[in-house]
Amino acid sequence: MTTEKRSFQAEVSRLLDIVAHSLYSEKEIFLRELVSNASDACDRMRYLALTKPELAEADAEYRVVLTPDKQKKTLVVDDNGIGMTREELAENLGTIARSGTASFLQNLTGDAKKDLSLIGQFGVGFYSAFMVAREVEVISRRAGESEAWRWVSDGRGEYTISPAEKAGRGTTIILHLKEGEEEFLEPHRLRHIVKTYSEHIPLPILLKEGGKEEKLNEASALWTRPKAEIKPEQYKEFYHHVGHVFDEPWLTLHFRAEGVFEYTGLLFIPSTKPFDLYDPQRKGRLKLYVRRVFITDDAEGLVPAWLRFLRGVVDSEDLPLNVSREMLQSNPMLAKMRSQIVKRVLAELEKKAKDSPEEFEKFWDNFGAVLKEGIYEDLDHRDALLALARFRSTAGEKLVSLEEYVGRMKPGQDAIFYVTGDSVAQAARSPHLEGFRAKGVEVLYFTDPVDEFWSGAVGEWKGKKLKSVTRGGADLAKIEGESKEASADAEDKDAKAPANVQSLIAIFKLALGDAVKDVRTTDRLTDSPACLVADEGDVDIHLERLLRQHRHIDKLAKRILELNPKHALIERLAALVGKDGTTEQLQEMAWLLFDQAKILQGETLEDPAAFTRRLSGALARGLPT
Ligand SMILES: Nc1ncnc2c1ncn2[C@@H]1O[C@H](COP(=O)(O)OP(=O)(O)OP(=O)(O)O)[C@@H](O)[C@H]1O
Ligand SMILES: [Mg+2]
Repeated sequence: MTTEKRSFQAEVSRLLDIVAHSLYSEKEIFLRELVSNASDACDRMRYLALTKPELAEADAEYRVVLTPDKQKKTLVVDDNGIGMTREELAENLGTIARSGTASFLQNLTGDAKKDLSLIGQFGVGFYSAFMVAREVEVISRRAGESEAWRWVSDGRGEYTISPAEKAGRGTTIILHLKEGEEEFLEPHRLRHIVKTYSEHIPLPILLKEGGKEEKLNEASALWTRPKAEIKPEQYKEFYHHVGHVFDEPWLTLHFRAEGVFEYTGLLFIPSTKPFDLYDPQRKGRLKLYVRRVFITDDAEGLVPAWLRFLRGVVDSEDLPLNVSREMLQSNPMLAKMRSQIVKRVLAELEKKAKDSPEEFEKFWDNFGAVLKEGIYEDLDHRDALLALARFRSTAGEKLVSLEEYVGRMKPGQDAIFYVTGDSVAQAARSPHLEGFRAKGVEVLYFTDPVDEFWSGAVGEWKGKKLKSVTRGGADLAKIEGESKEASADAEDKDAKAPANVQSLIAIFKLALGDAVKDVRTTDRLTDSPACLVADEGDVDIHLERLLRQHRHIDKLAKRILELNPKHALIERLAALVGKDGTTEQLQEMAWLLFDQAKILQGETLEDPAAFTRRLSGALARGLPT
């Protein structure tokens, strides 16, 4: 078998180009990445050996060995982990895995300075080796395989794979250091880097020098150590390693559960959204250990999907070591751990929400939309999640809870009003809010797609109906407004409605036919002449748009055209009713107001030509002859 030359996947070349030429200051992170990979590989080997002990080849002393060689100017990082086959070498080191590296590329801006800082933030995994090495050799033998393979590259777009000799299983990475990077051959430097970034790695990291091996880290699982002994940086570095993320943890939860069965949890809530937060699989990413042996990071059912942003480990004393994924899912212990973990996390969040609302606001902006999925799908925790839920509202920037909202409802108000939209800015522009604003009635902004679903499923909170301002009646009349005038105004809505407004409505109904479900006056408008609302029981306007965007529906619900009887245009039109030769004009106006209401709520018109024809006609009529 000869040497085969291959090209890197395009993304890898782009990445390598940035990394290889980077003037990134903290190049030392390359060692953190390589040690993290070696530790993951040993974790996977330890687990494999549980079911296939023969593959461990009687070598269960997992360790990572660093060997600097000043003559050869090489630094070797060697592990006796699971190793890689020829295909895996090509797959894993020739293409971008779904990892922090992938989101590094997604976040590239093209601005070299900004992109440079991203390297530290995303860690770029194995490829960070090219920040310090002019050539990288990887010699790997997969556990259970007799053949070993050598992967070599200088990071300039291509790599070669050829057969190699390797006594044990595992992976040996030889870094041929660039000129000027000799510092990484200095034992004190390597010691410092390991202490800084890899102290938490649960297996020995050995520095080999002149035949002597020095252990550089404590090599015990961080979560087994007493909390008092662990420094915040150690928790942070562990979070980086276990989460494949590089931000600060927003919350660190380290606990030991005793009783019927025992387990330790070291959980983190990120301070930024992980790149796979909205991955359709909605998988949790906690790592499950059994008595310090890594089992899986795909422990389905360990946490509900609405807590999938959690990172960290759960180490069970009682689960059977050779537990398979399938067995796991049906294991009552796992279900118990799950409910206890959920309770602990919710309790911490409640505490944060109460003690430091600003801090909680950051969390909520990141993960509120995910947590609200739980309101919809997890009845057991619905009430707890509703209590945690926060919303922006017409009352101002600050987040508001349902409790606070209900606490400041207006006299006569018996519903929790909300308006849906793609963003606060878009929802705030909704004409349907005018009447509510005028009366000082607070309206919540529902700007996450999930809001349409949980609000429909929940229906009411503590006896107060959740009511969309774009569906059904506005019911503003019975609410006492902020100012006397406002309430007085609303009271005599009908009193002041122009005489012929009902006749105008009849003409509009005739003109619009089945383009609308109904035409009526409303008190939800103050500045706009008209708007469209969904009838009670029909799909709400924003939800219909979402479903249409995702091609979940094509048939559109008929809407109700609401007219603002106090708007000058409506008054003038009503005054025209009954006058000779105005019917056709009024029918044109019906369509103009209908299309205008559609535009106002961000909808596209079926017949824009007709709209412009009618508009220019109306404008022409308005101009002095
Ligand atoms: N020492 C090793 N032993 C076995 N497999 C390895 C080793 N180093 C890397 N790999 C394989 O190469 C893949 C890519 O490594 P890389 O560090 O770039 O990404 P990652 O570790 O998956 O994620 P991250 O970007 O968070 O580091 C790994 O997922 C793993 O499959
Ligand atoms: Mg990695």
